Order: sequence, then C-alpha cells, then structure tokens
Amino acid sequence: MHSRFISDNISSSGSRLLFAGQDTVRLAEKYGTPLYLMDEAKIREQCRTYQSAMHAAFGSRYRVAYASKAAAFAHMARIMKEENMYLDTVSIGEIATVQKAGFPSERIYFHSNNKTDDDILYGLRSKVGYWVVDCLEELESLNRLAALENVRPDILLRLTPGIDPHTFAAVATGKVDSKFGFGIETGYAWEATKRALQCENVRLLGFHCHVGSQVFESDVFISSAKIMLDFIAKVKDAFGFSTQQLDLGGGFGVRYLPTDPRPDLEQYIREIGRYITKECAALGIEQPVILLEPGRSIVAEAGMTLYTVGMVKNIPGLINYVSVDGGMADNIRYALYSAPYTVLPATRMDEPFTGHYTVVGRCCESGDIIQPNVSLPETVRRGDLIAVCTTGAYNYSMASNYNRLPRPPIVMLKNRESFIAVRRETLEDLLRLDV
Ligand SMILES: Cc1ncc(COP(=O)(O)O)c(C=O)c1O
Repeated sequence: MHSRFISDNISSSGSRLLFAGQDTVRLAEKYGTPLYLMDEAKIREQCRTYQSAMHAAFGSRYRVAYASKAAAFAHMARIMKEENMYLDTVSIGEIATVQKAGFPSERIYFHSNNKTDDDILYGLRSKVGYWVVDCLEELESLNRLAALENVRPDILLRLTPGIDPHTFAAVATGKVDSKFGFGIETGYAWEATKRALQCENVRLLGFHCHVGSQVFESDVFISSAKIMLDFIAKVKDAFGFSTQQLDLGGGFGVRYLPTDPRPDLEQYIREIGRYITKECAALGIEQPVILLEPGRSIVAEAGMTLYTVGMVKNIPGLINYVSVDGGMADNIRYALYSAPYTVLPATRMDEPFTGHYTVVGRCCESGDIIQPNVSLPETVRRGDLIAVCTTGAYNYSMASNYNRLPRPPIVMLKNRESFIAVRRETLEDLLRLDV
C-alpha cells in the first residue's frame, strides 16, 4: 500500500485516486465539487469492531453509542439503527434528525452541557431513553419539568475525572478546569450524586465521563475508569447506591497522517475490559454496564473530501499556494486547531510528489487553510482534483455558510454504487431564511 494511503479504503489506478474502490474523478464529474464522500462499509465495519471487542470484554453488559456530533444526518442514523448502536446526541436538532430517520428514542442518550428548559421539554416529549446531566441547574430543571410532564427519566451524571489525555487543549474535556460536568476532585460530583438521589422525578442510573479526543493509549481510559470506579465504590458505601451504567465516553484516535500510529481498538478495549473486571472485584462492586461513545473513530476514515483546484500561486523563496473551491466553510479543523490531514492529487497519482504547497480555500480569511506543507506533483494546476482524506468526522457537522457558500453534498459509496445522502445546498436554500 502506498505510504500515503492512510486507510485501506484508499488506493489508485494509474493517475486516478480511488476511494472505496470507486474512481474519484468520475464521482467528481457526476456530483461536482466540493464533495463529501462517505464509505458506508467502513462505517459499518467500525461499528462491528467496537461491538465485537466490547462483547469479548464485557459479555452482554456493554453498549456502544455513536457520538452523532461527529456526523449527523438521516442516512447515518439509519445505519446506526441497522447496526444496533445507541446514539449520543447533543441537541434537539440532532434528536429531531435521528428520530425523523426512524432511530428508536429509547436508544438515545441526550448530552449537552447547557440544556435550556425548552431543550429539556423537547427531550422529555421525544421520550429520549437516557439523559446525561451536566450541571445542577439542569438537574433541578429536569426534575421539575419531569414532574410536570408526569415522567421519571433515567439519568447519568457527567463527571470530570481530572485526566489530561495527552492531547491538545481545545479537545481535552475531562480535566479539572473543564467547563463540562461535575468535578470529582472539587467535590461537585459528590454533591450532585447526593442531590440526584434525592430528586423524586429522575432515576439515577450511573455516571459518565469523557476525557478528550485523539487518544491513542488505553492507559488514558484505564486511568479515568480507575477514578470513576473509586467514586462508584465510595458512593455505594455512603448511599448504598449501586451504579448500573458507567459511560467512559469517546475519544479513540484515528490516523490523519501516515506517521500517526495505527490504533488497535480491539487491544485497547481488551485492556480496558481486563482492568475494569479486576478493579470491580477488588472494590467489591458489581460491574456496571459499560458504555463507550465513539464518534470520530466510527466515521473519520469513512470520509474523503474532493475539491477542484482554481489557482496555483508560487511566491519565490516564500510559499506556494494551491487554492481549491472549498475551504474553512466545509472543513474548519485546521483553522480551528491546526488539525493535520493527508492531501492527495486525485488526478496525478502516478507522478512524483515533489512540489510543496499550502492548500488554501476560497474564503476571505488568510487563516482559511486546509493544510500547510503538502507534497503534490509540481505539475498541479487549475482543474486538477485534490482529495483530503479522513474527513468523515467533524467536517460536515462543523460546516458553515461562511461567505454565503452553499454546503457540499454528502455522497455515500456502497457496493460499488453511489447515492446522495445529503444534497448540495442551493442559492435558494441560502436565501430561504431571509425575510
Ligand atoms: C461527551 C462526548 N462523548 C463522545 C465524544 C466523541 O468523541 P470522539 O469523536 O473523539 O470519539 C465527544 C466529543 O467531543 C464528547 O464530548
């Protein structure tokens, strides 16, 4: 495999780049650019890998919830339903999307660190299966509104175990100074547990934590499991409360560059499973149902974005630019936190990649950079097709209409066929909301 083919669904034939076995040049001709492609088999493969590894580690006492913030649209929800996944949703928009697609409400976890009373009412009336409560204000509102609606929702409390996941700060969420959840070290987690157990209109089932993103070591999950299990044991001693569910969040890393490690999900989960089983026995607590909620690692490698080159600009001694017909509006991740990507010349795969370029977008911002330091053939020119790999997670879901650019479509690749899952936005779509 070409060292730049960072996942096994990327290959080439002569000058052309193939994705999921399909010719990217033909796909660009058929659907236009910029274009998000999604490889459905890869998404399903990742769901199954998680489920079989979790089954091997925990028997039937596990759940895998896809974090739909990574990529939420109706077809994705249908795949998750067929794959028997649960869903972690973070807004009423995500809930509405997945419910419209027929995803069962009882398999939905409703996260979010600042649910308004309207959000809470929407979630209650939508009958979402589980709530992940992030703050005391939410707990009180949920308790009050559940009484009015005459229901008693099942909840987990989101705790912050105080772990630094060895990752960049913008996506590190489980540290003590996090805006998310109840800190264990600060005593808020203890107070929230006490209060949740007093609330008559909610049923506390357990605890949730999420330490960050792009984690490549099982140690990080084991450290957070240790802190959570210690807390669970103390809560059992103090309140006689038996934790039924422990959610260890998402965050498993994916390869963006050929130099990134190749994560072994099965091994990580085996190690986490062994630790949890041993530690529960040592603490004398019943092993809760264990949840993971991966987003990125389910969909990232299933995605690729295609662009057409519009301009090549060489500034001697300084920098060479390749400008494409998309940019930070469809992929803000480099602009936001310098996220790395592998970029390939989809129409010149058989030429040496001896030129060095900064690939930029068409938005009116100097920071509209898709990726600096990219090696491409020196022949690259207007009309060429450029592919950015591993864009399945947090690209479409973070896309905007900045500069009034219509968002690209999502085209699914399945069994050598392609079909539109989200259509391209039109100028009419853009103007629809203006009054
Ligand atoms: C609470 C929670 N769960 C799950 C995820 C998914 O993380 P990832 O996409 O890195 O697997 C996130 C991401 O931000 C999160 O905040």
